[in-house]
Amino acid sequence: MIGLISRLFRRSEPAILDATPRDAVALAAIHALSFPHGWSESEFERLLSDRTVIGHVARASGGAGPAVGFVLSRLVEDEAEILVVAVAPAERGHGLAGRLTHRHLGRLAAFGITRVFLEVDEGNRPARRLYDRAGFRAVGRRAGYYQRPAGDVAALTLRRDLA
Ligand SMILES: CC(C)(COP(=O)(O)OP(=O)(O)OC[C@H]1O[C@@H](n2cnc3c(N)ncnc32)[C@H](O)[C@@H]1OP(=O)(O)O)[C@@H](O)C(=O)NCCC(=O)NCCS
Repeated sequence: MIGLISRLFRRSEPAILDATPRDAVALAAIHALSFPHGWSESEFERLLSDRTVIGHVARASGGAGPAVGFVLSRLVEDEAEILVVAVAPAERGHGLAGRLTHRHLGRLAAFGITRVFLEVDEGNRPARRLYDRAGFRAVGRRAGYYQRPAGDVAALTLRRDLA
């Protein structure tokens, strides 16, 4: 009985799958809800068709439902840059970004990536916490990197080495 309940529970959790160009519309919609300047569907289509970009998408209901989060990276030789991680507002706070990042870093390691970098808004507490938990450490700070209506804000450059 406990096994059945836990299987049903797992089915209802989002599943994490490889992202493809067919996800462009859904990813653009999540991005628009997550950032002040959304990237267009054609921008996502271009990124997801690029051989140097890899992405994972979380789909609700064990993979049968709509996209609810994603992560994208660009690979250059043995380094990767995480371009974006975003989770639909209604799905935040349940560990989904942590799961996406964990799966994604595992895939990057399998590709032979040894160093992963990203830029994060210094004041973005959920993202700072997410990356800290995923083992990233600050290696630089760029003042005024993000232009915001309330004033420019700094970006931290974070790095994580992969075994
Ligand atoms: C950042 C983001 C992806 C996190 O998604 P999420 O699925 O809610 O993240 P998780 O549930 O995996 O939580 C990750 C950590 O952040 C913490 N966290 C979540 N919301 C938080 C908040 N509002 N304030 C502080 N910490 C928060 C969680 O407690 C967790 O830390 P823990 O493991 O120590 O408990 C999501 O908030 C988002 O899409 N934001 C908009 C886009 C963005 O800023 N992306 C990151 C920059 S590219």
